[in-house]
Amino acid sequence: MDPQNVIFLDGVTVELGGHAIFNDVSFSVEKGEFVAILGPNGAGKTTLFKLLLGLLKPTKGDIRVLGAIPHRGDSNIGYAPQHRVLETELALRARDVVGFGLDGNKWGIGFGTSKRDKMIEAVLKEVDAYQFANVPVGHLSGGEQQRLLIAQALITDPQILLLDEPLSNLDISHAQEIISLLTEIAKHRCVTIMLISHDINPLLPAAHRVLYLARGHSAMGTPDEVVTSATLSKLYGAKVEVVRSGGHVFVAGAEI
Ligand SMILES: Nc1ncnc2c1ncn2[C@@H]1O[C@H](COP(=O)(O)OP(=O)(O)OP(=O)(O)O)[C@@H](O)[C@H]1O
Ligand SMILES: [Mg+2]
Repeated sequence: MDPQNVIFLDGVTVELGGHAIFNDVSFSVEKGEFVAILGPNGAGKTTLFKLLLGLLKPTKGDIRVLGAIPHRGDSNIGYAPQHRVLETELALRARDVVGFGLDGNKWGIGFGTSKRDKMIEAVLKEVDAYQFANVPVGHLSGGEQQRLLIAQALITDPQILLLDEPLSNLDISHAQEIISLLTEIAKHRCVTIMLISHDINPLLPAAHRVLYLARGHSAMGTPDEVVTSATLSKLYGAKVEVVRSGGHVFVAGAEI
């Protein structure tokens, strides 16, 4: 493994509240990869993002993001958190919520209003949300709100996008729309994407690799390598059955 990879973890252990969330986890991600992160509730998926964002330090092991130790406020990382738009933001216009992505880092300083507006409008167009730029966020559907969160994460032109469950609450066709939008963005921006989901199916056409987390351990590889009865049974320490049918993957036997 090369510490110069976009994301690099070597022997990472994280203990929180006397409990090992990660136990000697190692993997790396290359530039431009689209990685789906899967695992049951409490497996540590969001915790992994906190490590990459420098919000949490590992108990043991080495983490590098773009060759450096993770640090807070890194505008090279665009982050869309797990929970959707905050209640306090529902009355704000879509363009204002997207503009928050410019605050709290170097991009937020010294920008005239017109430059800021131009950046917001460009990224709203990129996620196909320009038509509701002036609509209060609370009036928008789950899929539309998700596009705004992606725009907010993209506005600093990051090299890495960390998306925490952007497909939750979306039906299959809206989930597919978000995935094809992200695939386009990944292609033309050459951005590395890590996306947390509870369902691999909408990600099958897009994900180069899967990172599966369970019981403090990880398994990484292509979907065909990782999402198998043998690999998941080993990871869960229990019998897990993976069935592929009609282009879909069904996983049964454990809390997935
Ligand atoms: N600051 C903390 N102190 C103690 N335990 C914590 C802390 N932060 C997270 N945890 C625990 O770490 C575990 C992993 O949490 P995390 O939010 O990363 O899971 P997740 O995989 O994102 O789950 P979900 O699918 O429900 O979002 C949970 O058991 C959680 O209670
Ligand atoms: Mg989570």
